[in-house]
Amino acid sequence: MGKLIDGKKFADNLCNKIADEVTKLKHKNITPGLAVVRIEGDPASAIYVNMKAKKTKEVGMHSAPKILDKNTSQNDLLKVVEELNNDKSINGILVQLPLPKQINTDSVINAINPDKDVDGFHAINTGRLWTNIDSLVPCTPLGCKMLLLDELKDLTGKKAIIVGRSNIVGKPMASLLISENCTVTIAHSKTENLKDEVKKSDIVIAAVGVPEMIKGSWIKPGATVIDVGINRIENGEKKLVGDVEFSEVKKIAGAITPVPGGVGPMTIACLLHNTLIATCRKNKLEIPKFF
Ligand code: GUN
Repeated sequence: MGKLIDGKKFADNLCNKIADEVTKLKHKNITPGLAVVRIEGDPASAIYVNMKAKKTKEVGMHSAPKILDKNTSQNDLLKVVEELNNDKSINGILVQLPLPKQINTDSVINAINPDKDVDGFHAINTGRLWTNIDSLVPCTPLGCKMLLLDELKDLTGKKAIIVGRSNIVGKPMASLLISENCTVTIAHSKTENLKDEVKKSDIVIAAVGVPEMIKGSWIKPGATVIDVGINRIENGEKKLVGDVEFSEVKKIAGAITPVPGGVGPMTIACLLHNTLIATCRKNKLEIPKFF
């Protein structure tokens, strides 16, 4: 039976260390500020944004939520982003995705000051990540990398497969794993013989958004499995499941993250980590190292 990777515990630990750094900054009269912008209309986003605001305050940062009407225009959203870019009390800006149809997501993301882009989605941060220049790294892949390093210590030479090619998870995850000396495959909906590709892999990152798609029989015995999926399903009872068929995969894997309590809490902890880093860079202070 594989070991459970306790993302909640790791994230709580990381948040405690971040809170200590925030206390030190406050002694220098610096309070990191995080603005989370949400357009009304997506119930899941409302839950995530509330969790982000709660944790931001818990670590002692300034939380500035901006909740906008569901009919907000592209121009009005861009004006809010510009105000936040110019606001000296704000070090991190996150625009919660998905955005409604009237908004062009790429234009909004790329209007954020890259130095405040704590999601790490701006094209400048993407370029910095792939060229190994100090970047703000997307939170979910960063959290996955921290869990993998904690579990395996050294990833050198491991075969890793990422199932999912999104800009938010799959692509940045590939960059991070290449930098850790993994041999990386990115699989997606058009990949042939996906099961065989997964079966060859020492590390499996499931980020495809299909409930319980990755089966126990696909897993190489002893592999480390990181499940990024958060899917709400209803068959009789409502429950949250990942992209991995947990009950079967855990019998074969060496270690596996559960859903909930695996990657989810890491995403929020890494958002606060990025806000702290953005604040230190802005104030030309040494960047604390947590992993
Ligand atoms: N929606 C789902 N995940 C994310 C995320 O990491 N950042 C933002 N901005 N929106 C999201």
